[in-house]
Formats: sequence, structure tokens, C-alpha cells
Amino acid sequence: MTATAATLDAQAKINLALRILAREENGYHQLETLFARIDLADTVRVATDTSARELTLDGPDVGPRERNLAWRAAEAYMAEAGWPHGFAIHIEKRIPVGGGLGGGSADAGAVLRILNAIAPRPLPDAAVATLAFRLGADVPFVATDAPFALGWGRGERLLALNPLPARELLLCLPPFGVETGAAFGWIDAQRREEPLRAPAPLRPQDVDRWDGIARLAGNDFETPVIHRHPGIAACLEALTAAGARIARMSGSGSTVFGVFDRRPPAELPGVPTGTRVVHARTLTHVAQVRPLD
Ligand code: C5P
Repeated sequence: MTATAATLDAQAKINLALRILAREENGYHQLETLFARIDLADTVRVATDTSARELTLDGPDVGPRERNLAWRAAEAYMAEAGWPHGFAIHIEKRIPVGGGLGGGSADAGAVLRILNAIAPRPLPDAAVATLAFRLGADVPFVATDAPFALGWGRGERLLALNPLPARELLLCLPPFGVETGAAFGWIDAQRREEPLRAPAPLRPQDVDRWDGIARLAGNDFETPVIHRHPGIAACLEALTAAGARIARMSGSGSTVFGVFDRRPPAELPGVPTGTRVVHARTLTHVAQVRPLD
């Protein structure tokens, strides 16, 4: 691609299954997860015909730009590739922040994909994956164009799976987020009382149909997060009562999703006041980079 600017829909992810395994010496946790991309997306645009470094956002302010994952992704790419010499990133935010949908990670993944698509000398995929891993646990998955993948390690060991037929989703977006580091701390505290019993591994052949996923779906963050935010349980119950085949929290919360085999109802009685309910879909194809010039 010989463009100097390009755009990409940075699509969110949900965790259909999320197991938190051993805590490493450095405090990080091993995990095992089944990721799925969904159609809720930020729009990310990157231009490289500048020597300045710029980040502009439409949507909620998410703090200093040097801490923004999209900014850090561009800086990491420049350091590794020796290109571009400047960047102007613009993000239209739609994915709620701090909600377990990987919004900041999706923006970072989109910046890496855009830069590598328009670079005069693209980096090998493995080098992009390493940059992604340094940015955060969800970034390696959302820096690929896989609609479904199993993830291990801290999310960097990925196995892309064949897409499953698209399903309709309802997302319950509570008016608060959950801080991921704190949620890992709650799991550690819980396991000091009740040690981890190793679950059977998630195997690709067990999650190649929605039936199998419904059997294995789960999220180790749910119990400790619900303990502090009982409204999450009310969302799970409301989705189940409305006919969701799977109802789970995504990531460390606070978003709760329901997967429906049929068109979900327009109304979701029983969700706590202040919780937004949004319709979405799982994907069979992930968005591709579009050149702008
Ligand atoms: O990846 P992120 O920066 O969102 O992680 C926030 C915090 O969550 C980390 O500082 C760490 O304390 C914890 N964490 C963890 N194990 C992981 C990922 C994150 O303990 N696999």
C-alpha cells in the first residue's frame, strides 16, 4: 500500500471464556481465554506526512496522551521500524473505557496495523506481535485480523480459530468501570482463602461451535467483581431471562454481554438504573485497513 494515511475500524473484543491461572513472580498472571471480535468499534485514522506527533480524540477524555495506548503504539512502531518520522492519530471513541471490551487496546492494535500496512518496509508479523505484547495483554489479539482466537500466556500466545456464524449480542454497560489491576488483586485475595483448582484446558476442538462455547464460557473475574458490584449479577440475570444462550462479563468488567441465537428483545427489564444496553454482533471478518490518499 503506497498511502501516507489510512483508517481502520478498531473493533472491540469480548472474552467468551476467561480463566486466570498462576500468578508469576513479577505479579502478572497467566491466563487462558477465548477472544471474539465484535462490531462495536472506534474509528482510528493515522497520517504519516508530518514531522510532528499528534493525537486527537472525539469522545471521552482518556488522560494524558503519553499514556494513551494508541500513542504508545505509534512511538513503539517508530522506534522499531525507524519510520514514520511523525504521526497524526485521530480517534473517534465509541467503545466504553475501562469496560473490559479492550477499547484502548483495539486503538493501539489499529495503529500498529495501519502503520504496518502503509510502511515502505513493513515489519514481519512476529515483530508487530512483540510490539503489541509490550503494550498490554489484549493488544496482540486485536493487532491481528482474527475474529476468534484462543489466547494463553498473558494473551500473547494466540491460536486463530475459524470464525463461527455471527451471533447477535446485547451489551450491558454499567455506569462505572473496573480497574484491571485491582480486579487481579481481588482474585489473589480470594485464592489465598481457596486455592486455584486447575481447570481442564480450553481446546480448539471444544470451542468450534456455539454449543461447545456455551458449555465452557466463564469468567474468573465474575465472582470477585460481583461481590463489589452486585449490579453485574442483575445484568447477567436480565440477559439470561431475556433468552441469552451465554451471559458473561467481559475481561475484568464492567461490561456484561449476552449471546443470542435469535434477535434479542428491544428492552431488557431488570438492568440497574444507569446501565446502557447496546446491540452488537460477533464478526466473521475483521475490518481491513483503508488507504486515504
Ligand atoms: O494489561 P494492563 O496494563 O491493563 O494490566 C493492569 C494490571 O493488571 C497490571 O499492572 C497487573 O497488575 C495486572 N495484570 C496481571 N496479569 C495480567 C495482566 C494484568 O496481573 N496477565
